[in-house]
Amino acid sequence: MIGLDTRVQKFTIRLVLERDRCVEFFGPGDITRETTGAIVNAANSSLLGGGGVDGAIHRAGGSAILAECRNIVGRIGRLPAGKAVITTGGRLAAKNVIHTVGPIYRGGENGEAEELASCHRESVRLADENSLESLSFPAISTGAFGYPVSEAAPIAIASTVEALASANSVKKVRFVLFDAATLRAYERAAEKFSFPKTASPLGIEKVPS
Ligand code: APR
Repeated sequence: MIGLDTRVQKFTIRLVLERDRCVEFFGPGDITRETTGAIVNAANSSLLGGGGVDGAIHRAGGSAILAECRNIVGRIGRLPAGKAVITTGGRLAAKNVIHTVGPIYRGGENGEAEELASCHRESVRLADENSLESLSFPAISTGAFGYPVSEAAPIAIASTVEALASANSVKKVRFVLFDAATLRAYERAAEKFSFPKTASPLGIEKVPS
């Protein structure tokens, strides 16, 4: 293809990490248009689809994704919160979809934070096991599952940075946020992120809007 590939979407803020790793924030944006190796689906335990980002991914990716999800559920049963599985990306530009089940928010004192962190760690680990170099997350649990975005964002970012530190092939993670308020909450959490003390020059880059 000659010319500008309009599917490639820029970031608004980027955390620059050790070993050439980075975490980018983009929005308002539609994750189904991402060209990263995998996109992450905010699924439910049935893995049989739903509304929100789950519905958008199945619609855009086609029936091959649902067929693989059915197989997985047939093999392992319902997927608990905090876990992740991988399927084809079907018709999506991304080669794979990683399906993870976020916690349903029940006040914040019922293990939700650990489950949300686990979603991000498991998704990065699975992408790494499949030799992918990049993946994109939506704002898991912050829609139908009711997790307040300002609480979810710092957990999502810290657990992703932690998982990236021990990944071999994954170098880039993007957060693709659907609306301006969610993007702003993630940007705010990124700005407050405390970098580990290391010898390399880590930091934050911003693209003027
Ligand atoms: N791209 C990126 N983000 C999107 C998109 C999209 N195309 N569509 C929706 N979102 C955003 C929502 O605006 C919200 O910020 O994804 C975030 C997560 O919202 P949900 O999709 O409702 O996910 P979650 O809160 O984890 O709830 C999961 O919803 O549809 C069901 O099957 C799904 O039962 C599961 C539940």
